[in-house]
Amino acid sequence: MAEVSTAAAGVLAGRVVLVVGAHGALGSACVRAAAAEGATLVLLGRRVPKLNRLYDSLVSAGHTEPALYPLDLEGAGPADYERMAAAIHEGCGRLDGIIHAAAEFKGLVAFGSIPPEDLVRSLHVNVTAPMLLTQACLPLLMQSPDAAVLVAVDDPQRCQKAYWGAYPAAQAARASWAVQLGDELENTPIRVHALQPGPMRTPLRGKAYFSEDPGQWPEAAAYATDFVAALASGEGQQRAAVRALKR
Ligand SMILES: NC(=O)c1ccc[n+]([C@@H]2O[C@H](COP(=O)([O-])OP(=O)(O)OC[C@H]3O[C@@H](n4cnc5c(N)ncnc54)[C@H](OP(=O)(O)O)[C@@H]3O)[C@@H](O)[C@H]2O)c1
Repeated sequence: MAEVSTAAAGVLAGRVVLVVGAHGALGSACVRAAAAEGATLVLLGRRVPKLNRLYDSLVSAGHTEPALYPLDLEGAGPADYERMAAAIHEGCGRLDGIIHAAAEFKGLVAFGSIPPEDLVRSLHVNVTAPMLLTQACLPLLMQSPDAAVLVAVDDPQRCQKAYWGAYPAAQAARASWAVQLGDELENTPIRVHALQPGPMRTPLRGKAYFSEDPGQWPEAAAYATDFVAALASGEGQQRAAVRALKR
């Protein structure tokens, strides 16, 4: 695990941020933006080569050396997340933020044809896994003077449609959980923000809108600044509500 750099400049200098789904489109954009603001990143993703490439790009850009945490949310349970939190504590000494940017979506399929295990996987990776991971990190986050848990959520208007499988139900549950947790932790150092980006040019969107010109949508990097701002300060940030991000 990486040493926390106290020499780095930027609004996130000295903070340790765990990015879940770090090598995804939004995840990696947030990683780069947070690293540029001086954060020390813990990169959680399920594909080691992609994590390694992200690591190399941060180091070659001169950012603080990140820590890698390869983990597949599908098979991970409470004991795995306890181990992860302990490793972050041991290696980095603190945790000031989590960005939940992993998402499971296989593409458009008629409900009757979805393998039952895909329905369960979608609900688990999108909802129960981030809950369990966050629960295991709460004691560490509580020690931070100002911690933030950011949950990326999708717009119900765009995904509550035919053939989207369990994804819309999972997104609704994810948003509901984030709002409820934010309310529950109101008088603690932990802020929880449910952030809803607009359409982004990412692999996930391409699975549902394959006939659309992807060039019309912004890259995920366009929204990463909102995530960095939410990590950095509670000032002016809406809490206990889903915040739709506009571009
Ligand atoms: N794209 C949009 O237009 C849009 C709009 C609003 C909200 N969002 C939200 O933004 C977030 C990020 O989406 P995105 O568009 O950046 O999608 P993406 O590029 O497909 O990234 C999703 C990431 O989740 C990872 N993942 C999936 N299952 C996993 C598992 N079992 N364990 C660990 N990691 C796993 C994927 O890993 P692999 O690389 O191995 O597949 C991928 O890196 C999601 O919460 C999504 O709901 C997206």
